Amino acid sequence: MQEPLSPILTVKAISKSFPGVRALSAVDFQLNRGEIHSLMGENGAGKSTLIKVLTGVYQKDAGECFLDGKRIAPVTPKEAQDLGISTVYQEVNLIPSLTVAENIYVGRHPTKQGRIPWSVIKEGARAALARLDIHIDVTEQLGSFSIALQQMVAIARALDTSSQVLILDEPTSSLDPSEVEMLFRVMRKLRDEGMGIVFVSHFLDQVYAICDRITVLRNGQLVGAYNTAELPRMELVAKMMGKQLAALDTQKSQPSPEARTGASARPLVRAAGLGKKGSIEPLDLNIQAGEILGLAGLLGSGRTEVAKLLFGIDKKDQGEIIVDNVPVAIHSPRDALFQGFAFCPEDRKSSGIVEDLSVRENICLALQAKRGWTRPLSRKRQDELADYYIKALNIKVADAEQKIGTLSGGNQQKVIIARWLAAEPRFLILDEPTRGIDVGAKAEITKLIQSLADKGMAILLISAEWHELIRSCTRLVVMRDRKKIKELKGQQVNESEIMHAIAEGG
Ligand SMILES: Nc1ncnc2c1ncn2[C@@H]1O[C@H](COP(=O)(O)OP(=O)(O)O)[C@@H](O)[C@H]1O
Ligand SMILES: [Mg+2]
Repeated sequence: MQEPLSPILTVKAISKSFPGVRALSAVDFQLNRGEIHSLMGENGAGKSTLIKVLTGVYQKDAGECFLDGKRIAPVTPKEAQDLGISTVYQEVNLIPSLTVAENIYVGRHPTKQGRIPWSVIKEGARAALARLDIHIDVTEQLGSFSIALQQMVAIARALDTSSQVLILDEPTSSLDPSEVEMLFRVMRKLRDEGMGIVFVSHFLDQVYAICDRITVLRNGQLVGAYNTAELPRMELVAKMMGKQLAALDTQKSQPSPEARTGASARPLVRAAGLGKKGSIEPLDLNIQAGEILGLAGLLGSGRTEVAKLLFGIDKKDQGEIIVDNVPVAIHSPRDALFQGFAFCPEDRKSSGIVEDLSVRENICLALQAKRGWTRPLSRKRQDELADYYIKALNIKVADAEQKIGTLSGGNQQKVIIARWLAAEPRFLILDEPTRGIDVGAKAEITKLIQSLADKGMAILLISAEWHELIRSCTRLVVMRDRKKIKELKGQQVNESEIMHAIAEGG
């Protein structure tokens, strides 16, 4: 017999907006005593915002929260903590140079006649950790312990004797499997003591290993709440993506485009065991000259991180990048540029366009960086390049001296692509090249990408829009949980295969 569910935390119709974004729209959520409850959704779905509203970091615009039947509206994290809601964020916010005991009590140590009673603190820290079955020397510096143990210390610090709810936002991102197991042991113990635990994780396997129930968010809206045992993985993935499974199953697999003639079958760029601990598990990739290789996966699955490793923005800690059969050293974007790589990032506003510069200056930026700033391009050459690409890509501008900030999104995107083309890359990485632009510009950019491949460029295409990938690519790599899980080619390049790969792990 199952015990009746007893709600500890109830959220009713919570809304929260930021300028230009509705992060939460009338979301309901219920956490029961003695359960581990996963909050799932792609990046940007609203998980962290919901947690931050619950814990007094953000103030909600509308809605109500109840803890143990009483209405609460914490306005600071401290107040939420005092009410019995303890939170541990992804980043361990502790101080490595202090001892474990000091970290557990920092900022709130008891005083006895103005003095800090160290023996009391040590004993309290020991007891707090013992509750988690962790037995370590609390007089050692925190920094001398593994990240996993540091996280246990963070949990011990967060948990008061009065805590009824524990919230963990992506606590496992930087843990190895045995460390995850240690965390799970602690979570199960606290659950069995009756605590309600909210667990946010990117990792599907972890969610299925530990959670009793799952609430799915999408674009700031509640999709639904489900018992884990009754929610097949395919269904979960479909719900996170806002797709109908039934529609997918009847969908005919689309014939993939013919392998283009003229494209050589020589791998131009290869990654062998390329990885970075805590970011991307080691993976192999090979991209041929004249080929568009697609990278598919949910938002947050590690696609952009792969691009950043290849382009030297993030530093790999294992594996090799091989160009034309020769291992190359790429430690920075500048090294990558010298190898003939180009990377058109997703976040145009922060890492792409320089709003105050003209279209001409924006187009010449990457080539100038490749030449080195001591060898400036002549003004004449700059004018020629700008005119050439404005025509070639059909960029709508009055003239090349117009500030890029005044252009439409689609035209800005074309300028950024022009910038990387002007650097004459052999290998072009495009991260969401058509996001946020209108349909017409999308079609033009898709055509442009195709024509670049036809000319022999190797292209890595990242897109959340699977139909775009399916249309443009003959081969797809599927990512999940920061791992390459499958490679699809030919007839396998269709939505249903991508979904299966994501749900089942390849
Ligand atoms: N402080 C903030 N200012 C502006 N926008 C924000 C802020 N925090 C979150 N957002 C936006 O709200 C949406 C939901 O984000 P978030 O709750 O972090 O999603 P998740 O944790 O599910 O990845 C996103 O569009 C995000 O960009
Ligand atoms: Mg988040």
